Amino acid sequence: MPETDSAAPRNTPLAAVLGWPIAHSRSPRLHGHWLQRYGISGHYVPLPVMPEHLAEVLRAMPRMGFVGANVTIPHKESVLALADVVTDRAALIGAANTLIFRPDGKIHADNTDGYGFIANIRQMAPDWIPDLGPAAVIGAGGAARAVVASLLESGVPELRIANRTRIRAEQIKAEFGAKVVVYDWAQAGNMLEGALTVVNATSMGMAGKEALRVPLDALSPDALATDLVYTPLMTPFLVEAQARGCRVVDGLGMLLHQAAPGFERWFGRRPEVDEALRAAVLA
Ligand code: ATR
Repeated sequence: MPETDSAAPRNTPLAAVLGWPIAHSRSPRLHGHWLQRYGISGHYVPLPVMPEHLAEVLRAMPRMGFVGANVTIPHKESVLALADVVTDRAALIGAANTLIFRPDGKIHADNTDGYGFIANIRQMAPDWIPDLGPAAVIGAGGAARAVVASLLESGVPELRIANRTRIRAEQIKAEFGAKVVVYDWAQAGNMLEGALTVVNATSMGMAGKEALRVPLDALSPDALATDLVYTPLMTPFLVEAQARGCRVVDGLGMLLHQAAPGFERWFGRRPEVDEALRAAVLA
């Protein structure tokens, strides 16, 4: 194969996050913290890429010394069609967030959101046992699909889901199988009865948006409640769940943990998710 068709020589490894817009991404700060902490001479940069330019940019990146990238809104779905190899979980979720540019020039696409979701809970609530009872997922968007995949993989016996737009929840049931039970949005509160893991996977409760309005009367104090929203860290949903006696896990850890597999593949070191990282990303 001619030299020009393979990736550029890899001296200082480069990685990036591609999105449109990208200014608010916390990923550069996150990876920057790890690079500095482990003394790795690499760089991680935010790249604003318009959807119509994504294919062209991805093709050029390996030749520029990039070893991989994260992709975020609006590229997480469209990148699947541009990758040469798509992992099973990325295909099942229908989106990718982590790309590896292999030495042979091929683009490998994976989705680590579900991994990040579970790793966050396991770190913050080590005695959480998903198999012991049903999980309830509020929301059925892109992030919810990663959560559903990872909860089912973790062994939840039943996965209840409700979404404002019911068809999206029905679609998840059709794709993820018999353990998924769809509840009507108007009855989302009912699915909390007996649930041991409860997840807000909607964008409700985010700063500037309205709070989640699902009634929590049926929420058991034995349940673990977690939220994908991390601005604020304690969303109205988590505040109320905590007041009801539930263990709560905020959503920042999911962002931190989903980044670790990519960092390891690109820069050769498994990074730690700890308080120093949380503080750096929140700063
Ligand atoms: P993400 O990738 O973050 O999951 P998304 O795919 O746009 O983003 O999904 C957002 C989720 O929040 C969806 O479940 C959405 O419900 P719809 O599918 O009905 O749009 C939910 N959501 C956002 N705003 C909402 C609101 N005001 N009330 C109820 N659900 C809301």
